[in-house]
Amino acid sequence: MRTSIIRSLGITALFASLLAPVALAFPVVNTVLTPGGYSDRTKITAVPPGGRIAHVGKDIHVHAANGTVVHIVTPTPHKSSPVTKARALAKTGWITFASWFNTGAPIGSFKTSWTVPPAPVGQHGQLLYLFNAIEPATGDAIMQPVLQYGISPAGGSQTQWGVASWYLFSDQIFHSSLIPVSVGQRLDGEVQLVGASTGFDYNSQFTNIQGTGITVVGGEQLVWATITLEAYGVTVINDYPAGSTVFSGTNLELVSGEFPSITWSTLNDDADGLSTVVDVGGSTSATIEIRY
Ligand SMILES: *[C@@H]1O[C@H](CO)[C@@H](O)[C@H](O)[C@H]1NC(C)=O
Repeated sequence: MRTSIIRSLGITALFASLLAPVALAFPVVNTVLTPGGYSDRTKITAVPPGGRIAHVGKDIHVHAANGTVVHIVTPTPHKSSPVTKARALAKTGWITFASWFNTGAPIGSFKTSWTVPPAPVGQHGQLLYLFNAIEPATGDAIMQPVLQYGISPAGGSQTQWGVASWYLFSDQIFHSSLIPVSVGQRLDGEVQLVGASTGFDYNSQFTNIQGTGITVVGGEQLVWATITLEAYGVTVINDYPAGSTVFSGTNLELVSGEFPSITWSTLNDDADGLSTVVDVGGSTSATIEIRY
């Protein structure tokens, strides 16, 4: 269930070992950093505003808001790469996170609220991602409303926070348009089950920021919920924001309307003092804090 992490660390480790002396941020011209790790630029699709993504057999169709198919891709399953030991502050990918794996009725909604942190004091071209997300048991997909700092394939600048929703499936990456946000702004991130016929249909969005939504139809059931800090190109500790980011009002509701009994697991980067702390557990109004 952690294959996406293994995948991103594995790919990162591969590039890192090939190109160790080079700055990690953009090791290969056609390689870009997504919330799933390094990816080929050609595998990235911007979903038009109001559009949706549909699994159709082995292909994925991207529809414009008027229903027209504007793009078709055929995903190639990932080859798994070995995980190598992470090094302090050179560590990339998922840094610290809280997670819960659902084995009951499907998740109907996973939402949480946080505020845009202060800009990091350190400026080294780092790329930070903060998000809530749900993945299928296979780990081969992720649906997520993402706050980013730095430049990603969705855009951005080295001194600006921005938000977009992302859907990753195998080697294909889809995102909504990046919307700039301000320090201190409240973000309400939600992944919601919006239908189920041939597969599961989900929407990801910041419910309080227009234009941040993407919808996927006919996907796998999403079961592994996380709240995560992911980072690339961090060289000193103050390349992270100061203090902590508090994800509050965290609600995880099953499609049945039930709020399950949840014990959040956490994974920390102890070497660098980066941790995830569950201040208030459970599935209603949980509070989960990422400390830098
Ligand atoms: C639907 O939207 C696409 C993309 O914006 C556009 O190219 C196409 O002409 C539109 N089709 C209709 C029938 O409006």
